[in-house]
Amino acid sequence: MNRDQVQQQVGIIGESIEIKEIINVVEQVSPTEITVLITGESGTGKEVLAKAIHQMSKRAHKPMISVNAGAIPEGIIESELFGHEKGAFTGAAETRKGYFELADGGTIFLDEIGELPIGTQVKFLRVLENGEYMRVGSAIPRKVDVRVIAATNKDLEMEVHHGSFRADLFFRLRSINIRIPPLRERREDIPLFIQEFAKQFCEKNKIPCGGISDEAMELLRNYHWPGNVRELRNTIESMFVIERGRRIEANDVRKYVKEFHDGNRNLPVFTHKTPDQAERELILRALLEMKSDIMEIKHALNQQRVPASAVGSHYVEAHVDTENHENGERFVPIDEMERRMIISALERFEGNRRLAAKALNISERTLYRKIKEYNLEQ
Ligand SMILES: Nc1ncnc2c1ncn2[C@@H]1O[C@H](COP(=O)(O)OP(=O)(O)OP(=O)(O)O)[C@@H](O)[C@H]1O
Ligand SMILES: [Mg+2]
Repeated sequence: MNRDQVQQQVGIIGESIEIKEIINVVEQVSPTEITVLITGESGTGKEVLAKAIHQMSKRAHKPMISVNAGAIPEGIIESELFGHEKGAFTGAAETRKGYFELADGGTIFLDEIGELPIGTQVKFLRVLENGEYMRVGSAIPRKVDVRVIAATNKDLEMEVHHGSFRADLFFRLRSINIRIPPLRERREDIPLFIQEFAKQFCEKNKIPCGGISDEAMELLRNYHWPGNVRELRNTIESMFVIERGRRIEANDVRKYVKEFHDGNRNLPVFTHKTPDQAERELILRALLEMKSDIMEIKHALNQQRVPASAVGSHYVEAHVDTENHENGERFVPIDEMERRMIISALERFEGNRRLAAKALNISERTLYRKIKEYNLEQ
């Protein structure tokens, strides 16, 4: 099979040198039992790659179990991964198999490996080293035959440096590390993605594909895609499905790409410019943005007498109406501010919890907990 056929078979789109190199590595490591670490920003295709490796391995006829370590509450992560014995803890009414046991003979994809609690990391290392683990509440080692693929969008070396990730596990994992570059570092793949995604959505929705103008394509190619392929895919889906067979023009792109729509906030587009020009443009944009923030704050202070501290962030709405009145000053309870910021971040990233957590500078697990706490689940 040549590389194009391989790509087609496993559904990996891309013709950039970066993708070709990745496919080469995937072809080499897939048939082996080697643990693979996939790194890359959110939405770059880490899970797509993990599936490809599994599909091209000898384990393809067995399941690949995907586990998101960042989404499992810390207190139950070990019993989820390794299972537990009946009576191991309050509520453990039955013996339960863990994900490793369920994946026996197949592959386990451990996503967000950087979120694994430090105490669990040593147990994970043991499975990697000799396939051994113990169910929670049992002292009997069990054996499992599992191929591990791990992924993270964190800089694990930095985590090791900060003491939140074990160095021995990091060294064990990084022997085969596939780094998927962000989309903005492989722009030549963008037109191909657009073409493929448009074709898929038009076929799926049984609508004619109206094509896309050169100017619209150029805008999409130059955008910096912070949400990477996922964001591109969602944008193409919305444009083609909603515009139903109409040709996509530059104005449509401006309408559907949120940051164009929001007046180019945080939008460093500088493909044909020198680094100097690009830097000046960034500074100018930052200044304009600060100016508009100051205007907003002034406006809020004048109109609603909102405390300045309450409007310092992009994610806080200026309108505050539930303040406590203490000594003539207005206060907003901190948990209320937090709740609002979480709502704003979730709205801003259209429900993508990973991006929302990143913007709020909290872990995804903390965000999950707070969503529950504030009852924000839809
Ligand atoms: N090379 C690719 N070919 C085809 N589709 C892709 C490719 N890369 C990404 N995608 C698509 O982009 C979306 C995001 O991919 P994926 O879930 O693998 O990203 P991720 O890196 O795991 O993101 P996250 O870190 O947020 O979990 C999916 O819809 C996937 O189908
Ligand atoms: Mg993923």
